[in-house]
Amino acid sequence: MAFKVLVTDTMQLGDKTYPHLEVDYREGIAREELLEIVAHYDAIITRSRTQVDETLIRAAARLKVIGRGGVGVDNIDIAAASRRGILVLNAPESNNVSAAELTIALMLCAARGVSRSDRLIRAGKWDRKFLGREVKGATLGIIGLGRIGSLVSRRAQGLGMQVLAYDPYISRQRAVDLKVELFDDLAEMLRRANFLTVHTPLTEETSGMIGDAELALLPEGAVVVNAARGGIIQEEALVRALDAGKLFAAGLDVFVLEPPAADHPLLGRDDVVLTAHLGANTAEAQARVGAEILERTALALNGDLSRGA
Ligand code: NAD
Ligand code: MLT
Repeated sequence: MAFKVLVTDTMQLGDKTYPHLEVDYREGIAREELLEIVAHYDAIITRSRTQVDETLIRAAARLKVIGRGGVGVDNIDIAAASRRGILVLNAPESNNVSAAELTIALMLCAARGVSRSDRLIRAGKWDRKFLGREVKGATLGIIGLGRIGSLVSRRAQGLGMQVLAYDPYISRQRAVDLKVELFDDLAEMLRRANFLTVHTPLTEETSGMIGDAELALLPEGAVVVNAARGGIIQEEALVRALDAGKLFAAGLDVFVLEPPAADHPLLGRDDVVLTAHLGANTAEAQARVGAEILERTALALNGDLSRGA
């Protein structure tokens, strides 16, 4: 008997086939239909669009595996899955480089007004008065020095930046190896960070961890980037800090609500560069993500949990 797998979000699954797997690819499936059909599946594979909450998990009578094609599992109710004995898998290594590269892109675009200039030229305006900021010699504060934070640190050092980090869960040796100055106190790091980027998961602890008080500690004219999860940096606080001229610019790939509402205060600003949660969206990363999560799901369904988990 084949295991039935439902893929609910955009995913490149690759050419490899698994004899005991029957895969239904339903990219973008609506919530109502998903709730109706999920009971027929042994596994579902998602990205960040699908909310795998308690209601969905309850409706999924024969579900054994939830596969997350990517890193963050904040859209999955892990407690509800555990209560049902459902295994939650992700693909933690596959899209890190792409996410780190987009972070650097957002930082440079924000510092140099790239989107602003692009918009003005298209509107027939040739504005050469804009003055950006060099990153060479500036400090970059990284919150969360895990896989992506580490890749960002190396790339920023390649640009001549001095890298600072706050991550209470890594060893001091890890920071030494990365040639990064590690801070025990977030406030102390923020006071020194000309550029700030966050690379933590979205958890109760990190949700809203950068608000008015934290942004106020940054040096005048700092640039802030969030390519991790919407809400780690409070959006309203970010708008206030930009309005006050405290921040020079910001770059965001992620939002509290995705897509953000048309009247979202960040959307009309020239000093903000925005991308549509594209951190993992490269051909290379997506080929790796799809293949990895499908293989892990197949292994887990076939009982090889040591390799699947
Ligand atoms: P990771 O687990 O390797 O690293 C996360 C780091 O954050 C860890 O070192 C951890 O110790 C640290 N951390 C946790 N709580 C913290 C806190 N309160 N303060 C400071 N540091 C804290 O994860 P990763 O692969 O680097 O990915 C990080 C996040 O990036 C993911 O959870 C995901 O939400 C996001 N992400 C976004 C995209 C995108 O498309 N924009 C792509 C991939 C990942
Ligand atoms: C992730 O956590 O991996 C990102 O949100 C990217 C994605 O979902 O594709």
